[in-house]
Amino acid sequence: MILFEADGLTKHFPLRKGLFGRSNGAVRAVDGVSFTIEAGRTLGVVGESGCGKSTTAKLVLKLEEPTGGTIRFMGKKLHDLDAAGLREYRKSVQAVFQDPFASLNPRMRVSDIVAEPLITNETLTKGEARQRVARLLELVGLPDRAADLFPHEFSGGQRQRIAIARALALSPKLVVLDEPVSALDVSIRAQILNLLRDLQRDLGLAYLFIAHDAQRLPGQDVERHAVHRPHHQRACPAQQAAAHGEVLAKIARAQQHVAHGMCSQQRAVCPAATVTDGGACSRHRSSATGQRG
Ligand SMILES: Nc1ncnc2c1ncn2[C@@H]1O[C@H](COP(=O)(O)OP(=O)(O)O)[C@@H](O)[C@H]1O
Ligand SMILES: [Mg+2]
Repeated sequence: MILFEADGLTKHFPLRKGLFGRSNGAVRAVDGVSFTIEAGRTLGVVGESGCGKSTTAKLVLKLEEPTGGTIRFMGKKLHDLDAAGLREYRKSVQAVFQDPFASLNPRMRVSDIVAEPLITNETLTKGEARQRVARLLELVGLPDRAADLFPHEFSGGQRQRIAIARALALSPKLVVLDEPVSALDVSIRAQILNLLRDLQRDLGLAYLFIAHDAQRLPGQDVERHAVHRPHHQRACPAQQAAAHGEVLAKIARAQQHVAHGMCSQQRAVCPAATVTDGGACSRHRSSATGQRG
């Protein structure tokens, strides 16, 4: 079942200049991207720094409004949802970001961090909230006593487990993972990827998995999806303006490695996600990679 569908998704940020904030062109952060995500599966998004991956994530999370294009969730256009429908959407689509230190409030205890979405969205007694938090901590492999501690008392990997527990509090259907292991030590990455794989299997979660390069995708059975920025894009540092052919060539190379068994470690740690189709960028659908790793 197709859970999520983006069609021609576009986000331009206006560039303002001068005393009166005159518009002076736009940063075309996301430019006509189309993809689908099936329930319980993973769509991998790969691209150079600055190519619009995080902006795509924010559009999916409704933290940014698109300049153009449509998003459908479970067949319904987001644009047509009423307030109750939007609230339901926000509950169903949660996020884990790259830097768990930045995304967790350092002044809050873990119990309050994980309970926050529950308390905001549901009417629970203190005892019920405590039970739900304990269950979530267990789900992500943290001990009970973690509830009373503050984020700085944990390692990077454990902090990312807290962020995952919070993301799961409202039983989402789709989790946006924006470079979730990029800030972690190499030795810890595999553990977090394994956890994500187990959670996907047990809870039937769909993932939009964003990675800087194909090597950091969770591995086999993930649809690779290239996001790139067009050659002619303005306000774009040269090193970021990777021609899409270059990005795709990198992905193709990475996939060859996987195909030849050179990424055995990556294979071993990949979430068992499968996506069959829909990872292509609409403007370059023919050249986007669609094979399984
Ligand atoms: N709020 C914003 N205002 C203006 N430009 C932005 C904003 N957010 C992102 N951008 C620009 O959009 C482009 C894509 O950014 P981003 O989505 O963060 O890329 P990535 O996550 O792939 O590294 C970059 O050129 C960035 O500077
Ligand atoms: Mg980013």
